[in-house]
Amino acid sequence: MILVTGGAGYIGSHTCVELINAGHKVVIVDNFCNSDPSVVESIRDITGKDVVCVDADVRDKDKLLSVFKDYDISAVVHFAGHKAVGESVSKPLSYYQNNLDSTLTLCEVMDMQGVRTLIFSSSATVYDPSNDMPLVESATLGCTNPYGWTKLMNEQILRDLATANESWSIVSLRYFNPIGAHESGKIGERPSGIPNNLMPYITQVAAGVRDKLHVFGNDYPTADGTGVRDYIHVVDLAQGHVRALEYAQESRGAQSINLGSGTGCSVLQIIHAFEQATGITIPYVIDPRRPGDIAVCFADTSKAKQLLNWQTQLDINQMCEDAWRFESQS
Ligand code: NAD
Ligand code: UFG
Repeated sequence: MILVTGGAGYIGSHTCVELINAGHKVVIVDNFCNSDPSVVESIRDITGKDVVCVDADVRDKDKLLSVFKDYDISAVVHFAGHKAVGESVSKPLSYYQNNLDSTLTLCEVMDMQGVRTLIFSSSATVYDPSNDMPLVESATLGCTNPYGWTKLMNEQILRDLATANESWSIVSLRYFNPIGAHESGKIGERPSGIPNNLMPYITQVAAGVRDKLHVFGNDYPTADGTGVRDYIHVVDLAQGHVRALEYAQESRGAQSINLGSGTGCSVLQIIHAFEQATGITIPYVIDPRRPGDIAVCFADTSKAKQLLNWQTQLDINQMCEDAWRFESQS
């Protein structure tokens, strides 16, 4: 069985579906601090298979140990953690506490139980903003906020672990900008409060929850002046985890691998793609740049192609259609 921490969350739930579709059995551990238990039922609905879910904090060592004793776990995909960049600046201790302690406790328990295959959720935010694009895994690392530092520190901890004991096999996946939802419309991204990220904001404008989108800056050195990012369909991303798990089961050591589409798309391009895919007009205004944003960010994806035999299949149109289906059905 595969243990999926944070499996009720946005990326975790899609990964559970793809793991089950690939024939794996899944146990979720989630404390629902940023998700709803009903997601587990939706995973069962989509796959037609049972999913075990334990309501627990990954930092609770005794409870985690009991999960390893109750189920025959062969590998772990570790999503559990806090993820809001802005909140991490105002609540650094909560971020360092949750994101580091969860990994330390998890790895300690895994080691005790002799389970040493791990896939970790990292982020493109570990790259220093001064790098040239596209970002290769060997680019300079460096962060601008506590959330990013927790990802970089986790990666370092995992590298050190693999150096100390060569039976560990660890893949840190550096995600670019995951958007979209499962084609069923049953699972997707449900941010609490005002969305920080572009696509959830757009879908809420389309649904009439918000009156207009604020485009953060149109004076960047890009083709239309708005920020360019590497958007990746969450189902492609989820399938990348299945491939990474298969790779990790066959290898040893620690690797960091980008998961992105390899191409950049501007804010205005996303707005227009959404309008085309859904037929809904998105009113927007141009606001000043958002502090901390960079002009352009996209991945070099050759390492994922080479090691995982994986590349994205789903385009921006599909990402917009699926994001809207989830928003409009919920
Ligand atoms: P999410 O908040 O939807 O999912 C995280 C899940 O972990 C939630 O269900 C939450 O309840 C759970 N959780 C948090 N702390 C926990 C703990 N201590 N014990 C048990 N459960 C806990 O986030 P997501 O977008 O699915 O992201 C998953 C992972 O991917 C995170 O580590 C995040 O930092 C990383 N990531 C996300 C993005 C993105 O744009 N969404 C980009 C790069 C990296
Ligand atoms: N944007 C807007 N209006 C909005 C929201 C975003 O114009 O309401 C713009 C941003 O300025 C940026 C682009 O849309 O140009 C994408 O912004 P997101 O907030 O959706 O994504 P980011 O690239 O800023 O951040 C994402 C993840 C972070 C991660 C980072 C680097 O959300 O967790 O990528 O990998 F750290």
